[in-house]
Amino acid sequence: MIIAVDGPAASGKGTIAKALADHYGLPLLDTGLLYRAVGVQVLRHHGDPANAADALAACVFEDDLLADSMLRTAEAGDAASKASVHPAVRAALLERQRSFANQPGGAILDGRDIGTVIAPQADAKLYVTASARVRAERRIKEFLANPDEAAILAYQKELEARDERDMNRADAPLRPADDALLLDTSDLTIDAAVQQAIRLVETRISRQQ
Ligand code: DC
Repeated sequence: MIIAVDGPAASGKGTIAKALADHYGLPLLDTGLLYRAVGVQVLRHHGDPANAADALAACVFEDDLLADSMLRTAEAGDAASKASVHPAVRAALLERQRSFANQPGGAILDGRDIGTVIAPQADAKLYVTASARVRAERRIKEFLANPDEAAILAYQKELEARDERDMNRADAPLRPADDALLLDTSDLTIDAAVQQAIRLVETRISRQQ
């Protein structure tokens, strides 16, 4: 069984993908980490992630880098989004994601283009969204205990710029696959979102049997 979980930054897709992986006992690949590793390498080499040659040169990295806490920063997310626009970067990371998806026994992958490009044959596809305001509040609370309104709005602007880039690039833009099940987590607790995700996957799988 292959489950694809796509959606914008801070929509809850990572948490949901992890909960589904635990529930079904399937291996999980957070594909955003691959792009974040590229972005971080470019920055460490003093390159520009918006430059295709700099970004492509950063596509070979040690697996250790995927566990580096630097990958979790907003700076890494921004560099990843800029580097991921380049078709050569996406091509360089494609095979690793496809072979993870196709491993015997199945897999769960979360990202932006799993249901559309990496695993269009997935048994269940979720497209997880939430309003930009809610996503900004959630993400900023990971860094600041009591963010003020100005900080939330500034972060919301950054998220919206990232959405804009991810949704409007020519190669593998973020969009729901035609057969994706939509899950808006704006008004849901984590538990409720996870339960809903499991219900959606169950419904989709039982229809196929
Ligand atoms: O999911 P994330 O925030 O860790 O992803 C960081 C960036 O990487 C995202 O803004 C766009 C890019 N990305 C992508 O283009 N395709 C994927 N499958 C996953 C991430």
